[in-house]
Amino acid sequence: MLHRNMPSTLWILLLGILFMVSGTIGTPPKRPVAVPFGRNYMPTWAFDHIKYYNGGSEIQLHLDKYTGTGFQSKGSYLFGHFSMQMKLVPEDSAGTVTAFYLSSQNSEHDEIDFEFLGNRTGQPYILQTNVFTGGKGDREQRVYLWFDPTEEYHSYSVLWNMYQIVFFVDDVPIRVFKNCKDLGARFPFNQPMKIYSSLWNADDWATRGGLEKTDWSKAPFIAAYKGFYIDGCESSVESKFCATQGKRWWDQKEFQDLDSYQWKRLRWVRNKFTIYNYCTDRVRYPTMPPECSRDGDV
Ligand SMILES: *[C@@H]1O[C@H](CO)[C@@H](O)[C@H](O)[C@H]1NC(C)=O
Repeated sequence: MLHRNMPSTLWILLLGILFMVSGTIGTPPKRPVAVPFGRNYMPTWAFDHIKYYNGGSEIQLHLDKYTGTGFQSKGSYLFGHFSMQMKLVPEDSAGTVTAFYLSSQNSEHDEIDFEFLGNRTGQPYILQTNVFTGGKGDREQRVYLWFDPTEEYHSYSVLWNMYQIVFFVDDVPIRVFKNCKDLGARFPFNQPMKIYSSLWNADDWATRGGLEKTDWSKAPFIAAYKGFYIDGCESSVESKFCATQGKRWWDQKEFQDLDSYQWKRLRWVRNKFTIYNYCTDRVRYPTMPPECSRDGDV
């Protein structure tokens, strides 16, 4: 208990400190709020292959034998939480790839990828993730999903701060990429990224390693999107740091590591749905890549 004769100047000082502390903690994480496409995004190419619904609150990307299409964020961001609700190409989607990713623009670029590899009717999609640092990727992980991603909208999101990059499917972490700078691993931290999505033909590799080709008689292939909310530190493309570094909700203690429930769910994904993880591929990487060493029990 505070002494009842404590001078009032001390009280004021205490209140001041409390106020300052609460000011730096920032607002708690908000559920992504849906906004119209045009608020945060614009088409990248083949503008006529993007269709808009409900005042731009939902869109579709169309792929036919002439072209795919894609869109990108207007702004660039250093850290934050980025999510998209997507409903993937239904039925025969073999040969198609739908991607949702963050990428910086320069030659030694950083990139955080979700890639959905289509399949023949009734066969499962593969979700491939990758992380590029300084222009180098080769960090693939592949999982099957525990639901049919073509039936309903699901949210796919990335949490990116100085400590980790987490890939989420709905609320389930499917991958964590820890900052292991102290162990000699690179980590994306000083190159602002834009958010991109696209749908294209990749039947030279996507489905069963390229064995299954795109059946153009089933075109157009259609992926649907909504949500479009972005919660990041917006920075100019040349910027090397975020002006509010350390002060946003995603920088705070509880987002610097997964909690025990999230680790448990990540383990569930690894045990039940993982097809490939470069961290455990000793043919390709005889010694474990340094950034894998804080992944828990990979
Ligand atoms: C497609 O289905 C086949 C057969 O079930 C499976 O082996 C493959 O992993 C699936 N996904 C892709 C993208 O090839």
